Amino acid sequence: MRTEALAVAALAALALAGCRQGMFDQAKKEAYEASDFFADGTSARPLPANTVARGQLREDRGYYFGMDDAGTLVAEPPIAVDRALLERGRERYEAFCSMCHDRAGTGNGMVVQRGFPPAASYHQERLRAMPAGYFVNVMTAGFGRMPSYASQIPPADRWAIAVYVKVLQAAHGTALDALPPEARAAAEAALAGAGEGGASGESAGGHGATGGPGGAGPAETGPPGEAPAAAGGGPRAETR
Ligand code: HEC
Repeated sequence: MRTEALAVAALAALALAGCRQGMFDQAKKEAYEASDFFADGTSARPLPANTVARGQLREDRGYYFGMDDAGTLVAEPPIAVDRALLERGRERYEAFCSMCHDRAGTGNGMVVQRGFPPAASYHQERLRAMPAGYFVNVMTAGFGRMPSYASQIPPADRWAIAVYVKVLQAAHGTALDALPPEARAAAEAALAGAGEGGASGESAGGHGATGGPGGAGPAETGPPGEAPAAAGGGPRAETR
């Protein structure tokens, strides 16, 4: 009984293996496999002359590569630059570039902090002088250890990112007194806030709410053990 069952199992296994083998060994060429069928010895076939694969017409080289046929980098973005484009550029930049280049573009993103080769800072003189087309070109073709992002980021988004990178550069190197008065006041207020720590605005609000006669009263008159806990509780909850 037992041997019969084993024999059946063995036969079934053989039969199944046979099925798989047939599909496994079908006549096909794998990527880069040699072939003696074609005179040039490769199985991969080049496109016939003067044909373009569907969806791959790249006539406007400046748009697709950031560089025209003569090798000149495109300076004027071939798309309308408005606030919506910058928002799109920021969103795409933060999704595709910031993990290496960081959100300010200094080249020290989380992936670099975890051991990837340092990504370039956009704020070095050489890159500050580059037109937007250069950034499209780097995204399209890759650069050194940075891979190409052409297959992941369509050309319109590459331009949005490039324009946003130019904005990051401008924001990084602009002197306070070059700003219009309202923008300067806003920047100074933001800088003052940043100097006291990110949550300063909120903890100041916390003090306002818990301070004053009401807040100070319990601290002086209440049990010593309770007052510090209550005082500490307010701001902690506020800054979380
Ligand atoms: C996986 C990490 C990584 C990501 C993601 C990444 N980069 Fe880079 N990038 C690098 C590294 C590393 C270098 C430096 C390459 C070198 O010098 O070999 C670099 C260099 C650059 C340079 C400088 C080229 C030069 O002339 O020195 C530009 C511009 C650039 N990246 C733009 C981008 C943009 C825009 C994105 C988003 C679409 C992006 N990178 C996404 C890692 C990355």
